[in-house]
Amino acid sequence: MTGQTAKSYYDQEAWDVKSWVDVIAIEYKKLSTKYPFKKVFQPLATDNTIRLLDVGCGTAIFPGYLDRVLDSELKIVSDLLDISEASLKEASTVLTQLTHFEVGKVHQGLIEEIPGIFNLSDESYDIIWAIHSFTTVDIDRMPKVYSHLIKMLAKDGLLLVYQLARESTYQVLHRYYRSKQVKSDKLTAYMEFEDSIQILDQLAARYSVQSFNFSHKIEESRTDLLKKYLKKVILDDQVEVLEFFSPILPKFYVPKEKQYRFPQTVNLLTIKK
Ligand SMILES: C[S@@+](CC[C@H](N)C(=O)[O-])C[C@H]1O[C@@H](n2cnc3c(N)ncnc32)[C@H](O)[C@@H]1O
Repeated sequence: MTGQTAKSYYDQEAWDVKSWVDVIAIEYKKLSTKYPFKKVFQPLATDNTIRLLDVGCGTAIFPGYLDRVLDSELKIVSDLLDISEASLKEASTVLTQLTHFEVGKVHQGLIEEIPGIFNLSDESYDIIWAIHSFTTVDIDRMPKVYSHLIKMLAKDGLLLVYQLARESTYQVLHRYYRSKQVKSDKLTAYMEFEDSIQILDQLAARYSVQSFNFSHKIEESRTDLLKKYLKKVILDDQVEVLEFFSPILPKFYVPKEKQYRFPQTVNLLTIKK
């Protein structure tokens, strides 16, 4: 799937972000509380200020969670990049309401176009992060993106990539969707953690990995939410998802809890300059 497809999906006004966020909140909570952001960020700050590039910022869900765990005077000036105009607007609004964040430059464009958008002599970031945004990208163009992002880091700066691993249910469901060839045009695979590792090894980059495991839980009675969740996983509103996924959905049902549980593994890559 290309960024353009993701753009049209994320830009839809009918998209009910609230119910989605309730289900996926666990992954942002876990990341913001289990990774030592305060300890990692503070030494990188100059005058208590971190320069951040948020790649695929979406509606700035993650900064909302991180803001609650940063209790120092630390300020994060965040440049934003996303293909979705609606998301960029929402992210700017959200960030101005947070204690530790400030909006810097706003770039509307594709992640794949990063080498053309950012001039290496102009920008240098203490932190660049891509939180759940290296998914609907053209994998073939990502080695150049990774290489450029690493060069855009300040001395001792870090690139943080939070990305679904192959075994995640998200990927399992998307692979199933692709295998059925629902659309006439060929659907490309979501990029995943394992693709990043391959690229980083080819670039001889220095990195470490922290693994996060959790389940997205949806009560059996919340049929509407289950439908939304499944549509969001495949970024396709046209599919009758309950029927479509019926051969594999029972695998995720836990009768004792009367709920569906979709186990996910999301890894955080910490990449050094
Ligand atoms: C799951 S959301 C990201 C959530 C966000 N990082 C956060 O922490 O709240 C994915 C975002 O990446 C953007 N995106 C997806 N593919 C893209 C691409 N190829 N180029 C630019 N933006 C892209 C989407 O528009 C969407 O806003």
